Amino acid sequence: MLKKTLFINGVEKRVVVDPETTLASVLRNQMFLTGTKVGCGKGECGACTVILDGNIVKSCIVKMKDVEDDSQIITIEGIGTSKKLHPLQLSWIINETAQCGFCTSGFIVSAKALLDQNINPTRDEVRDWFKENNNVCRCTGYEPAVNAVMDAAKLIRGEVSKEELWLKLKEGTSIFDLSLLDSADIAKVTGTYKYDADLGLNLPQGTLHIKLVQAQVPKGNIVSIDTSEAEKMPGVYKVITYKDIPGTNRIILKKGEEKEVPIINDKKIFKEGDPIAMVLAFKPKLAEEAAKCVKVKIEELSEYSEPKAKDEELLPFEPNVGFAYLNERGKLIIQTRNKDLHLSSLAEGIGVPLEKLAIVQNNRESSIGYEFSPIKEGLLGIAALVTKKPVYLEL
Ligand code: FES
Ligand code: FES
Repeated sequence: MLKKTLFINGVEKRVVVDPETTLASVLRNQMFLTGTKVGCGKGECGACTVILDGNIVKSCIVKMKDVEDDSQIITIEGIGTSKKLHPLQLSWIINETAQCGFCTSGFIVSAKALLDQNINPTRDEVRDWFKENNNVCRCTGYEPAVNAVMDAAKLIRGEVSKEELWLKLKEGTSIFDLSLLDSADIAKVTGTYKYDADLGLNLPQGTLHIKLVQAQVPKGNIVSIDTSEAEKMPGVYKVITYKDIPGTNRIILKKGEEKEVPIINDKKIFKEGDPIAMVLAFKPKLAEEAAKCVKVKIEELSEYSEPKAKDEELLPFEPNVGFAYLNERGKLIIQTRNKDLHLSSLAEGIGVPLEKLAIVQNNRESSIGYEFSPIKEGLLGIAALVTKKPVYLEL
């Protein structure tokens, strides 16, 4: 472990960190500065951009062993607040640049670094800056972000007032009042909007992280599953296969559709990625390591399968996240963003009476990019029911 002194948004913080952990993880998990988002986790989408000693960095790929003692770090939370928006944040709202808002923190931090060194950039310079620094927006592309930066620069140079900017862009309005701004927009530009992975940080200590063991072939018969090595690993709480499921292990994917599929594949593999086992551990890394030790023998059946499309571009997709727990009355709560669940089929598949199951939908206005299928809710339910602990799954 390393002991470091960091100045985060001007405040001195003493932290003890794992040298191999990332700056993004320390900011989010240890400092609870969840305005810094993690999308790709590979340095390619810009969602996690922060300013480290005056330079833009992708905090998801900066290891703590490479962060100097006494470093100055600026995150979105250090740029402005809901009561005192930075011109960039105000301009982002007025220009309607934040749609889902997942990329917004990274863009605004990046734009702040640009305006700190060039208060009068051209549109091309702004666009090039975002391209060079890998800030990517899947919802709007660059145009609205460039508009927002150009207007913010005018505000900072004093060429236009907030009121003039507001009236210019909001046709039909005659007053400018900060209290009229949409609270979700304010939360998105200040980094306080809660995405699913942020809500997951509210789970208590002792929450189990799930890593799936998934089929690597498109079609086949499962011959054997050996979980013994993974189960012996320290910190692994349990490895769950179809044998542990109290219910029927079958689920109807959509209301109105009668086709049943397994929650955890027991005999056959129908497509690549089908879940074969769940490893539950107190640390996500450990669950990941242990999942590699589960030995699965599959008799592969030949089938033509489309070659996998190569990712053209890594967009800042919000991770798909769900969690589950038993509440104080023993009711199974599955928290998700899925709006289309066949509840009675889910209850039967998991093995819980319908009245003992509740789905809590994360309070979100948008489900853009959300790909959790009912199978994942089934996996969460089974994991919480079998272990009697809160469980968290991120894909
Ligand atoms: S660049 Fe860090 S999350 Fe994508
Ligand atoms: S607003 Fe940029 S990714 Fe959605």
